[in-house]
Amino acid sequence: MAVALIILAAGKGTRMESDLPKVLHKVAGAPLLHHALYAGQSLEPERIVVVGGFGADAVEASMRSFDSEAQFALQDKQLGTGHAVRQAETALDGFDGDAIVLYGDTPFIRPETLEAMLEARKNGAAVVVLGFCPDEPGRYGRLVTGPEGLEKIVEAKDATDEELAISLCNSGVIAAPAEMLFSLLSEVSNDNASGEYYLTDIVGLARAAGHKAAVVTCDEAETLGINSRRELAAAEMAFQSRARAAAMDNGVTLAEPASVYFAFDTMIGRDVEIGPNVVFGPGTTIESGAVIHAFCHLEGCHISRGASVGPFARLRPGAELAEEARVGNFVEIKNAEIGPGAKVNHLSYVGDASIGAEANIGAGTITCNFDGVMKHRTEIGPRSFIGSNTCLVAPVQVGADAMTGTGAVITSDVPDEALALSRVKQVNLDGVASRHMARLKSIKARKLKEAD
Ligand code: UD1
Ligand code: MG
Repeated sequence: MAVALIILAAGKGTRMESDLPKVLHKVAGAPLLHHALYAGQSLEPERIVVVGGFGADAVEASMRSFDSEAQFALQDKQLGTGHAVRQAETALDGFDGDAIVLYGDTPFIRPETLEAMLEARKNGAAVVVLGFCPDEPGRYGRLVTGPEGLEKIVEAKDATDEELAISLCNSGVIAAPAEMLFSLLSEVSNDNASGEYYLTDIVGLARAAGHKAAVVTCDEAETLGINSRRELAAAEMAFQSRARAAAMDNGVTLAEPASVYFAFDTMIGRDVEIGPNVVFGPGTTIESGAVIHAFCHLEGCHISRGASVGPFARLRPGAELAEEARVGNFVEIKNAEIGPGAKVNHLSYVGDASIGAEANIGAGTITCNFDGVMKHRTEIGPRSFIGSNTCLVAPVQVGADAMTGTGAVITSDVPDEALALSRVKQVNLDGVASRHMARLKSIKARKLKEAD
């Protein structure tokens, strides 16, 4: 059965106190919206529709950055969840599979949970609702069940005391055949305590029309929605503690788990060691046996087997470390390949470059990649030796087995096996240092006397 995702993301998120739409706030380096899209992606949806309203342009752009084929539907006024879903109807014109409604501000629904909902659909329920039992049911909608499964959903504001005592609550995630969903929604009114069009009303309407409805349940942690900065921080912490535990369960050594921060997509192989205070931005992959020492920041990079990074290193997008490569302290690497066994051990900037196998980049080496307008590449051949404090003014190439002398400013290519020197020859002036010091001291003594 084909699946369409409908993601509700029109709300302003007033309690965020933000100019940024709520769904664009980030957890683990990705907007909340992407987390919802990510969860839904596992169902291999044929169509994706994001319903936006507040900050629509930014929400649409963020959606496209995740999936260029996803469709955007505008909900001008936020008249309720039912009204929001109806805005997706045009985009899903002609689609005759199942629709799953997710909230853009609820990032932790697991793919397995969504799959269980589709399974319940296959087993004969027309409408499937994801339920959970919260510690505090509060203002969640209550799931009223009977001998034939789910009877209806009652919003807390509209519930009787007896209904409020029900502990099974609505997460908001609903699956139903798309056509049935829209036909039921056309019957929903806003005659209720909030004056809103409730998506939840479709359950009672489906039952009245003789269809079956069922509940699939999940853990409260999955349905965690974000409404404030405090909840955003709590969600981040929840994500991080799960990611740390998962990394360790998969054979990663974390010296001090609480100080390591993962991104939503960090991939780490077995027997990787990670020191304290390491932060991963999006897009990092680390292969088995690599070591990341304390205080490193890594983003958009790939680290191969046996490589070593840090302490105090920064790997920016496009950093690619081959096997056994070493990047040491106070080194920044951006958009550069560091070849097998190559070393960039101290105080260097290597950007828009490729460093050949077994090359040694001396302390303080800088690739001068930016001319103020454009970026240029530096290429360094295998086994070459770049002397300390070399400036490589790109575009420039250093051949295989070549050397640059300490302090060189390299502006033209260095052939294979050549030594490039570009510094003023040293002269020693006998006795000049001590005469100079004596002179300075006498000047200072005279000035102190004059001031008396
Ligand atoms: C909704 C459910 C409630 C459930 C709860 C779970 C309804 C009527 N109620 O209540 O049963 O327990 O979620 O969190 O569905 N949105 C729009 N456009 C709108 C209204 C909402 O896009 O016009 C989006 C919001 O941005 C949000 C989501 O839908 O992401 C849920 O809306 P919200 O107002 O938080 O619904 P609740 O009142 O919490
Ligand atoms: Mg809510």
